[in-house]
Amino acid sequence: MSKILITGGAGYIGSMLCTKLLSLGHQVTVVDLLKYDKGSLNHLYFNRNFKLIVDDARKKNLIKNLVNKNDYIIPLAALVGAPLCEKFKKDAISTNLGTIQTLCEVITKKNKVIYLTTNSGYGIGEKGKYCDENSPLNPISLYGRTKCDGEDLVRNKIKNHVCFRLATVFGHSYRMRSDLLVNNFVHTTVKKKRLTLFEPHFRRNFIHVRDVVNAIEFTIKNFNRLKNNVYNLGLSSANISKIMLARKIQKHFKKLRIKIVKNRKDPDKRDYFVSNKKIEKKGFKATISLDDGIIELIQIFSNDKNRIINNY
Ligand SMILES: NC(=O)c1ccc[n+]([C@@H]2O[C@H](COP(=O)([O-])OP(=O)(O)OC[C@H]3O[C@@H](n4cnc5c(N)ncnc54)[C@H](O)[C@@H]3O)[C@@H](O)[C@H]2O)c1
Repeated sequence: MSKILITGGAGYIGSMLCTKLLSLGHQVTVVDLLKYDKGSLNHLYFNRNFKLIVDDARKKNLIKNLVNKNDYIIPLAALVGAPLCEKFKKDAISTNLGTIQTLCEVITKKNKVIYLTTNSGYGIGEKGKYCDENSPLNPISLYGRTKCDGEDLVRNKIKNHVCFRLATVFGHSYRMRSDLLVNNFVHTTVKKKRLTLFEPHFRRNFIHVRDVVNAIEFTIKNFNRLKNNVYNLGLSSANISKIMLARKIQKHFKKLRIKIVKNRKDPDKRDYFVSNKKIEKKGFKATISLDDGIIELIQIFSNDKNRIINNY
């Protein structure tokens, strides 16, 4: 079993990841400022293999000390999403990029790093063409730029690494986010029974948070086969347009009315399909369907109003 350090482990992905890794018998240490949901790791305190350090992942000495004691490092601490990074620019740079610069300085030869970034750097894809790992990255937001620069650092400076470029994540977590597109559409559907779409044919791709966790479990089991590479990570059947997503939600929530506003631009310009063939050829395939995620989210947003927490 491995010793695993996760910064930002109390977050949307981290809280699900810690839960899974502990259930597999790994030793997990989290460094997190608990910026959002203070209770997202409550269910793990009973586990002797779990340690939470409520502190700032930007502290070099703290991280250096922990890096030396752990095999795997999964640096998730970040200000996540374009609006949040625009609001807190300095913190976004020092957290999203600064923590990775520090990690590069303190990393040792025995450490293995798994880094998650967003695939939104692909921006606007060509019609009929899928972006693969060789497609040019051209991030337009500060968030996208800090994450792409972080990936560059990991790939150039860290000997043992695996990088994943994630599709937009959906589904339930112990620290819930309703700003992510699927989560947001389902939340709005349940609350207002009405969805207003701008530029409905913009294409996007998605992955369930449990599949992200499964991919990391797979990476730990197969690190040597996967290492020193970057992979797109998404659900291949979930390369769909916003209007297709809205219709899928309507299938499960019949009262939903979809309104399309013409001549109004969506500030989010992402429009691309993504190929996940590279990781699939290595043996990992995301499997949790959008339909299952939508059903799950309808239940959550209908029954538990406190689960609705945004990053901004
Ligand atoms: N959710 C997605 O769709 C998605 C997609 C691609 C990549 N990612 C990446 O995955 C990672 C986790 O994202 P998430 O969705 O779980 O976000 P999140 O906002 O839920 O989690 C981030 C966590 O980091 C913590 N944090 C922030 N600054 C910190 C600091 N200075 N020190 C310690 N902890 C700090 C927060 O308290 C929070 O618990 C991020 O690096 C993000 O860029 C997420």
